[in-house]
Amino acid sequence: MPNTYDQVLYPSKAFQDTHPDRLATVATLHGLEPPTGDCRVLEVGCGDGSNLIPLAVALPHCHFTGIDLAARPIEIGQATIARLGLANIELHAANILDFPAPAAPFDYILAHGFCSWVPPFVLDAFFTLCQRHLSPHGVVYTSYNTYPQGHLREATRRILRHANSPTVAGAKEYLATVRRQATDPVWTTILDAETQRLNDRDESVTYHDELGETYHCFYVADFLDRAAAFGLQFLSEAKPAALLRPAFSREALAQPDEIAYQQALDLATFRGFRRTLLCRAELPIERGNFTRHVPKLRLASPLRFVSRSAQGGETFRNEPGPGQVELNHPQLLAILHRLEQIWPQAEPLSALLSEPADPVVLDQLLALAAVSLVHLRRFALPVAYQPGPRPLASPLARLQAASRPQLTTLLHTQVQFTEASAREFLVRLDGTCPVAGLGVNPEVLATLYRMGLMLA
Ligand SMILES: C[S@@+](CC[C@H](N)C(=O)[O-])C[C@H]1O[C@@H](n2cnc3c(N)ncnc32)[C@H](O)[C@@H]1O
Repeated sequence: MPNTYDQVLYPSKAFQDTHPDRLATVATLHGLEPPTGDCRVLEVGCGDGSNLIPLAVALPHCHFTGIDLAARPIEIGQATIARLGLANIELHAANILDFPAPAAPFDYILAHGFCSWVPPFVLDAFFTLCQRHLSPHGVVYTSYNTYPQGHLREATRRILRHANSPTVAGAKEYLATVRRQATDPVWTTILDAETQRLNDRDESVTYHDELGETYHCFYVADFLDRAAAFGLQFLSEAKPAALLRPAFSREALAQPDEIAYQQALDLATFRGFRRTLLCRAELPIERGNFTRHVPKLRLASPLRFVSRSAQGGETFRNEPGPGQVELNHPQLLAILHRLEQIWPQAEPLSALLSEPADPVVLDQLLALAAVSLVHLRRFALPVAYQPGPRPLASPLARLQAASRPQLTTLLHTQVQFTEASAREFLVRLDGTCPVAGLGVNPEVLATLYRMGLMLA
């Protein structure tokens, strides 16, 4: 049978929550000791390597393996790797069912957009792979569709497939017809929201996600139950907000057990998608005592100082987004002033303070991390904060800039460079031209550094 992912390419990208640094940071906050040295990383269903290749650029001491059933995306990824001359990454067109025993275990196993898009026996093969080939302190990343919101997704999928149209446009037209006929107010509201969701995204995603043969939603408790059958336990959600500022506390939902609590969260928040981290069942996870482990981490912050009040409080703003925050603890202010100088680089907390941190400051750092105003890290990312004598942009971003506006940063985020002149300038930053010879406004160059596009 032809592979649909060969026929219609899936528009992939870098997913920040899959970064081994994020996985290591979350594990550290739970009292674990994740690998942080020369790690081995596997991604299953890696597509064209859009997620894995930027990681290989940013973590040159780690080794990356990607597999995907579809040969065409793998060829595209291999061509990119060859053009970048990367020696620490390999992509293979392979079925997970035939995955050979690796030379050594993997420290991080990533599966983004995989578990919901494969049949149950392939999901079991994935969990078996993790059981056999995850290193003792390794972490697994999985993302998948969840109920209760999944019920709406499944209804939409049923309508789109009922159209029996060979094109996404035809299926969506049928959905519009159903909407025009509908009179029930609950149903029309749902159909409007679903139509909007589909209109907001690339048709090739709908082609696979809604019209494809395989599509599964899970109650999180069932997903974790299946993982447990393979010796894996729930570690955490990967997103800092989901971890540090859950919508409801365990007490509010009256759920003392972790898995029952996670399930209750989904029921109460109508969750439709999860990014779940798993680890080996025997590891002793320490929940809800994150403050204790903050001193083991590196910190970065995009906050910029705005003003100081007569009472000593200081206001900071988040450079890329709206909103301001007023803070007054002297230790926290000292930390943020240093981090402002070095953004997007991070420093260990021990280097930021000469005396032990006040527990209040640790709590405030976590509160800021929950809203991405402080970034917590374990790995030292090779990102620069100020120009050296000859500025060097990420080789991947330079390659991407030659052909498209969306660029991947060294922080594993996406930025849009819609102006061709800005992209041409970035391409020139190959480490050979002195700053003076670039003939550019220093502010423009500083912006590239703050975006995380420049190598240290
Ligand atoms: C929904 S796409 C997700 C791609 C990418 N990870 C992302 O999130 O953008 C699912 C991918 O899993 C791959 N896949 C499905 N079954 C597989 C199998 N048995 N072995 C390896 N890859 C498989 C498909 O070819 C496809 O590229």
